[in-house]
Amino acid sequence: MRTRVARVATTALGFLVLAPAPARAADVTTPKASAATARQEIERRADELLGRMTLSEKIGQLVQVNASGGTVPDALKERLRQGRIGSMLNEIVPAASLEIQRIAVEESRLGIPLLMGRDVIHGYRTIFPIPLGQAAAWDPDLVTAAAAVAADEASAAGFQWTFAPMMDIARDPRWGRIAEGFGEDPYLASVLAAAMVRGFQGDRLSAPNRIAACAKHYAGYGAAEGGRDYDTANIPEGLLRDVYLPPFKAAAEAGVATFMTSFNEINGVPSSGSEFLLRQVLRGEWGFRGFVVSDWNSMSEMINHGFARDLDDVAVKSLTAGVDMEMQSTAYSDHLEALVRAGRVPETLVDEAARNVLRVKLELGLFDTRRPFTAKPPGPPDARARGLAKAAALRSVVLLKNEGRLLPLARGTSVAVIGPLADDPYEVLGTWNRDGQIEDTVTPLAAVRSLLGSAERVRYAPGLAQTRSRDTSAFGAAAEAARQSDAALVFVGEEAILSGEAHSRAHLDLPGAQKELVDAVAATGKPVVLVVLAGRPLTIPDVFAKASAVLYAWHPGTMAGPALADLLFGVENPSGKLPVTFPKTEGQIPVYYAHKNTGRPPTGRKLTLIDDIPPRARQSSLGDASRYLDIGYEPLYPFGYGLSYTDFRYANLRLSAARVTRADTLRVLVDVTNTGTRDGQEVVQLYVRDLVASLTRPVKELKAFQRVRIPAGETKVVELELPVSSLGFHDAKLRYVVEPGEFRLWVGGDSQSGLESGFEVVP
Ligand code: NOJ
Repeated sequence: MRTRVARVATTALGFLVLAPAPARAADVTTPKASAATARQEIERRADELLGRMTLSEKIGQLVQVNASGGTVPDALKERLRQGRIGSMLNEIVPAASLEIQRIAVEESRLGIPLLMGRDVIHGYRTIFPIPLGQAAAWDPDLVTAAAAVAADEASAAGFQWTFAPMMDIARDPRWGRIAEGFGEDPYLASVLAAAMVRGFQGDRLSAPNRIAACAKHYAGYGAAEGGRDYDTANIPEGLLRDVYLPPFKAAAEAGVATFMTSFNEINGVPSSGSEFLLRQVLRGEWGFRGFVVSDWNSMSEMINHGFARDLDDVAVKSLTAGVDMEMQSTAYSDHLEALVRAGRVPETLVDEAARNVLRVKLELGLFDTRRPFTAKPPGPPDARARGLAKAAALRSVVLLKNEGRLLPLARGTSVAVIGPLADDPYEVLGTWNRDGQIEDTVTPLAAVRSLLGSAERVRYAPGLAQTRSRDTSAFGAAAEAARQSDAALVFVGEEAILSGEAHSRAHLDLPGAQKELVDAVAATGKPVVLVVLAGRPLTIPDVFAKASAVLYAWHPGTMAGPALADLLFGVENPSGKLPVTFPKTEGQIPVYYAHKNTGRPPTGRKLTLIDDIPPRARQSSLGDASRYLDIGYEPLYPFGYGLSYTDFRYANLRLSAARVTRADTLRVLVDVTNTGTRDGQEVVQLYVRDLVASLTRPVKELKAFQRVRIPAGETKVVELELPVSSLGFHDAKLRYVVEPGEFRLWVGGDSQSGLESGFEVVP
């Protein structure tokens, strides 16, 4: 029996709209109903639907399959008619997407719509900076706004679900997926994860232009041994809870509709089989009401992990652990029904998983006429989307170096534009660009030309065809262009494909002959401005040394060019801050600011380094400090670091109290003065250290930040709130505790500087 009829219509705009008619009273939600009533209504409708479903149909809701490249083969049609598929991913062809929904809605017994998913990671058609770049903006509102644009575009294209945000804490830049997350810090990542969820989902998930977000990859994926993607993570539970889980908890609190399990194991248990992660923490402790999807084959890969024997075992373990939907592999679709019938898995577990999926479908309004199925690929970004993409790119760029205040360049400067990434409309879009179009991109070269408005002042000589190229035959032309110009702008880095999933690197240098290109340009004696476009921190201090100024731009997206041109020529002032520590060399990894002090800290003492050691030196502990003989201990650039064309002075740090209880919120005030002659934006950062605790604590932990705009010469009083309840950690018994005692506190422009104060937490 069919429960609803869909109308297929062609709109005035000429695209197909599949508008399901309200076949039952239960299909219509009451807008004025209170949140609690609406929830109850959703539960009632999910139960009602579930009560009418066969076992096979229930299992169908747990099955996600990949698109067939714009076709709807007969076998797929048949499965849709039988209600054996609950979701699909990657169907970007409008006609196929609509036909799939039409069959599900009109020709299956219960007419349950499919949830169509896509990786919309940093934009759909309008591409924003990669998430690591967005993190460098330290601007939650901007992240929300960017995700909202992505949701507008993705929903129009026929998707109701994105597999984002990724919020894996990453402290190893060899891991290619560091590009997709918010960096090394749990607080920053938590704030931004919640901000991105709000952008995708909005206030009302059922609004036609909002999509369900997905907190991924749950959990510990970024802790892969050696930075090799998919590798093992060994994380003690306290560390897991203090560092890796907080962004997921923040996403759950922000109402994220779905979670995705990670590929990795933690301490011997793959995430797709982890009752601890999925039942105890996610549902039990955090009260998550949405559904959990596996990653692509992450369930069946439990066989490779040595955690499951075969697909029967996979199905039992994943369902028992709490994975509600299986992406791509076929343990649920091909094995679950027989397992239930044989009594190896209780049907109640299937019911529960199907209810979780139906609940999200209902919350999305998929059964509601007010959310018609549309599938029209969005056109080129409009002015608003471009404006936001440019603002995000502008704020994400980090000025690492500016010797002699070379930047900003005067408009009259003649420039040689050099490097394989100066005019590449594709690579600047970064990893996980699936639907962005290169014709929308404005490259740095195009933007510099348009800003300077004079062809003679811009000499373009790429030097290399792409970043991995080793052909040096065009170096002469690049050097000549530099010689004839006042300054050389050199755009180097990594192509998009060198970071992201499965793209870990052991050497974090400039690929190909890019270093040699920079050398050749620097040898002309002309000032070099290096613009690095990369998906991760590169360990290239020797290359930075050849440049007078360095802008680290990540992969900035569609509006890469206009943002960079405005920064280079001072239309805008850089304000990005590093969301991840920059190592000097790969051998220093992992290096992150929130490390432990150790019993032999290297700070505040003269270190003996390798050249200080006499030949035939006798055994000695050389000053007893934790560091490397050859590079010491400091990173190249610390977390939170980033320069501006102006200067900021911090003064007058004051705390609302010297002694606080756990129930208090400390107010922290500081005067920040823009002492230069240009307006600027500063990211004011607050760090704390718990001096003595029952378990040792990091030397610093970020607890608050605020981006402020300060006109030249003016002072702003910045007020940051520090809830004392946020100062805790998981103790030896894994209880979250805020222990009484002394705390130090710093407020400044990065993790290694700032004004210092202190306070005491009293019982
Ligand atoms: C595998 C990736 O790990 C995940 O992030 C992505 O969402 C899925 N594939 C779907 O494309």
